[in-house]
Amino acid sequence: MAVNNGRYAPMRRYGHITGWGKAVPDRVVTNSELAQIVDTSDEWISSRTGIRQRYVAVDPRETSATLGTRAARAALESADFPANRVDLIICTTSSPEHIFPSTGSIIQDALGATRAGAFDVSAACSGFVYGLSLAQGMISSGQADAVLVIGTETLSRIIDWSDRTTCVLFGDGSGAVLMQASTVPGGVLSTALGSDGSGGDLLTVPAGGSKQPATLDTVAAGQHFIKMDGRAVFRFATRVMADATREVLEKANMSIDDIDLVIPHQANERIIRSSMKALGLPDEKVFINLQNYGNTSTASIPIALCEAIEQKRLKPNDNVVMVGFGAGLTWAATAVKWAVPGLKDVPVWRAGQRTATYGLAQVRSRFLKFSRRVEGSLLTEEGDGWNEVVADRIEGWRKTRKD
Ligand code: ACO
Repeated sequence: MAVNNGRYAPMRRYGHITGWGKAVPDRVVTNSELAQIVDTSDEWISSRTGIRQRYVAVDPRETSATLGTRAARAALESADFPANRVDLIICTTSSPEHIFPSTGSIIQDALGATRAGAFDVSAACSGFVYGLSLAQGMISSGQADAVLVIGTETLSRIIDWSDRTTCVLFGDGSGAVLMQASTVPGGVLSTALGSDGSGGDLLTVPAGGSKQPATLDTVAAGQHFIKMDGRAVFRFATRVMADATREVLEKANMSIDDIDLVIPHQANERIIRSSMKALGLPDEKVFINLQNYGNTSTASIPIALCEAIEQKRLKPNDNVVMVGFGAGLTWAATAVKWAVPGLKDVPVWRAGQRTATYGLAQVRSRFLKFSRRVEGSLLTEEGDGWNEVVADRIEGWRKTRKD
C-alpha cells in the first residue's frame, strides 16, 4: 500500500512482459514451390508482398494447440515461471481446433496450468494485441498476477490451395508471452482497440459457423476456406495502422520520436512501409520478418517480438509499439515500455524439472479422461444395480442429516 494524501491507496499494478516464446512447424514452403501448384511466381509474391517462404503444418498431429503449447512452454521457460502458477491463459486464434472447447483450454491442459482460467479471443490478426490489452486489464485490476497470452494459427488448414490470391500469403506458427504484475512502472502503457464490422465480408470464412453450418454443399463450394478482397483490405490496413499507432501514442503521452521500435502485423511489406512512412518512422525503427514466415495472422506480432529480442533490438526502457489489423474488420495497437534486460540465468536442472512437470500434466490429463469414462459407463449402464446403490446412498445420507 502507498500513502496518498495521508490515506492508504493501493499500489498501482503494471503488466510487464517477462517471458516470450515462439514455435513453427518443421516444413518450409518456398514461393517457388507454390509456383508449382498455382499460377504465380517467386517474383510476383516477393515484389507484391515481401514474402519468400512460410512454415506449413504438414503433419496432421501439429495443430493450433500443439504449436501454442510449444510457444507457451518457451515463454514460461524464458521467464523461469512454473505453469501451475499461471492465473489465466488468453489464446488468440482464427484457426481454433474446434468451435468449442477453446484452444486455450486444450493448451491449459497440456501445460498442466491447473489453476488457470482459459479462453479464446477471436479478433483475427489483431487478436494478440487484443489479448495483451485484456491481460493488462486483468493485472491492473488485481484479478490476475500472471497471464499467458498466446497467438496461434494453422491457417494452412482453412486456405484454398488452388486460390493464388490467398494461398501465397499465409503461414502457420505461434508466439506467446507471459505478462506478470509488478509495481515497477512500465509494461503495457496504453492500448487502442477498434472494429468496423461493416467490412466483415472483405475477409471471411463464410461457412462452418452457426449462420451457414458446414454441409456437403458448403464444402463442395469451398465456403469453408478464407475469402478475401485483397485490394480493399490493403487500403483499410495502410490507413488504420498509422491511425492506431497515433492513438496509442497519444494515450501514452508519447510522440513518434519516443518510439524505439515498431512491431507491426506482418501481412505485407508494402502495407508496413507505406503506413510507417505516413508516420515519419525511419526503416531502422520498424521490425519486419515476414519474408521468412508469411502472414501468420495473430501469431505474427509475438513471433516478430521474439525475433526482435533474439536480435537484441530491444533493451530496458525502450518504447515499443505493436500494431495490427485484420478480419472483422479489426485493428489494435499497444505501447509498451520494455523492462526485461534479457534471459534469466536458470539452473540447468530446471529443464529436467520442467520436462517432468509436462510429462505429469499428460499423465494427469489421461487419468482424468479415463476416470470420467469409467464414471460415465457406471452411471449409464442399466440393470447393474448402480441406480439402486446411488438411491440407497442418498437415502442413507438424508437419514444421517436428519439424525
Ligand atoms: N500470383 C500472380 N498473380 C496474382 C496473384 C498471385 N499469387 N494474386 C493475384 N494476382 C494477379 C491478380 O489476378 C491481378 O491480375 P489482373 O490485373 O489481371 O486482374 C494482379 O495480380 C493484381 O492483383 P491485385 O489484387 O491488384 O494485387 P495487389 O497488388 O493488390 O496485391 C495482395 C494483392 C498481395 C493480396 C494485396 O492486395 C494485399 O496484401 N492485401 C492485403 C491482404 C492482407 O493483408 N490480408 C490479411 C489481413 S490479416 C487477417 O485478418 C488474416
